[in-house]
Amino acid sequence: MKIDILTLFPEMFDALLGSSILGKAVERGIIEVNVVNIRDFSRDKHRRVDDYPYGGGAGMVMMPQPIHEAIASVKKGCPDARVILTSPRGKPFVQEKAVALSRQSHLVILCGHYEGVDQRVIDSMVDEEVSIGDYVLTGGELPAMVIVDAVARLLPGVIGSLKSLEEESFTGGLLEYPQYTRPAEFMGMKVPEVLLSGNHKRIEEWKREKAIEATRVLRPDLLEGVQFTECDGKRPLKGKNKL
Ligand code: ADE
Repeated sequence: MKIDILTLFPEMFDALLGSSILGKAVERGIIEVNVVNIRDFSRDKHRRVDDYPYGGGAGMVMMPQPIHEAIASVKKGCPDARVILTSPRGKPFVQEKAVALSRQSHLVILCGHYEGVDQRVIDSMVDEEVSIGDYVLTGGELPAMVIVDAVARLLPGVIGSLKSLEEESFTGGLLEYPQYTRPAEFMGMKVPEVLLSGNHKRIEEWKREKAIEATRVLRPDLLEGVQFTECDGKRPLKGKNKL
């Protein structure tokens, strides 16, 4: 997958791409990431990329021309590339969206800044606006990193085991069950006996029960989208608001 990131702060991506998992994905050629400085497309002698908003109001607006040319340059020869703008007014970025984006062969992520981006460039060149949550950050770089990380790890060969992708939080709509590793007893606290039993059927049942319980307590809003089986109904849901 090719990913072009258009930003005013290219150096912010050094940490992400140097990190072990994504760095290896780049090394192995699973993802090719190209970070483009939007300022390089400014025609202003001071390399300005923002201006005052028409109609007044706080802050500055990113000018259309540098962004238009930056997007056109990375899309040259690739008309099918999907262009995403990171913006607090975008659609929420959820796992389903990460899965959908992981099926694209070429993503262009435009990192929004200041008070926004001139609407004409959004209307003419952006396929979708994406928000990583209902809060406002200083810029779209962190959201772009979140998107790249969540998408890249879904690509074959980026993380070790496909099973961990299948089992993890949000897959199937449930949160993940609690995890334990050695020692079997730590500061007087024991690993649940069933996990040491070697009984795979009981272990799978326990994991499902604990996933439902965790979701009920921590994110009851997610339960609406979960397909319950007949067995789930027979399991006692213990405790009220405690895991
Ligand atoms: N830019 C600023 N805040 C943002 C958010 N929550 N999501 C995406 N882009 C943003």
